[in-house]
Amino acid sequence: MYPGLVHAHSGLRWIALLLLLVAVVVAIGKWQGRSGYTDGNRKLYLFTLIAVHTQLLLGLVLFFISPLVNFSMLSDKLYRFYSVEHTTGMLIAIILITIGYSRSKRATDAITKQRLIGIFYGIGLLLILASIPWPFRIVGAGWF
Ligand code: HEM
Repeated sequence: MYPGLVHAHSGLRWIALLLLLVAVVVAIGKWQGRSGYTDGNRKLYLFTLIAVHTQLLLGLVLFFISPLVNFSMLSDKLYRFYSVEHTTGMLIAIILITIGYSRSKRATDAITKQRLIGIFYGIGLLLILASIPWPFRIVGAGWF
C-alpha cells in the first residue's frame, strides 16, 4: 500500500499544479479584464480545490506511515524536509486555497470573486512550488 500511495501522491502533483496554474491565470485575467464569472470558472476553481484536498488526504496518510517522517532524525536534512518543511508548507498552502475558495464563493460581485481566487490560489501555488520535493533539490525524490 505504501509504494502505491507515494506514486499516487507524486503523480497527482501534476494535475494539482496544472489546475492551479490555469485557475490563477484565468482568475487574474478576468479580475484585471473586469469580465464576468461563469459556471465554467466555478467548476475550474472547485476541481482545483478537490485536487489539492485529495493531495492533503494522501499526504496525511503518508505522514503517519512514511519512514521519511521521523521526528527523532530532524538534524538530517531529508527527514526534516518531509517531517516539517513539506508538511507545514503544504498545509499553509491548502488552508489559503480553501479560504480563497470559500470567500470567493460567498462574494456577490464577479470581480471580487475572481480577485480572491487570483490572490489566494496564486499564493498557494507559489507555496506548493516551493514545498515540493523536486529531484534536483531532494535526494531520492522522483518526477512522477
Ligand atoms: C498540494 C499538496 C502536495 C503536493 C503537490 C505534494 C507533493 C509531494 C511529492 C511530489 C512527494 C514526493 C513523492 C516521491 O518521492 O516521488 C511528496 C511526498 C510526501 N508528502 Fe506531499 N504533497 C502535498 C501535500 C502534502 C501534505 C499536506 C502532507 C502531510 C500532511 C504530505 C506528506 C508527504 C509525505 C509524508 C511524503 C513522503 C512520502 C515518502 O516518500 O515516504 N504532502 N509529496
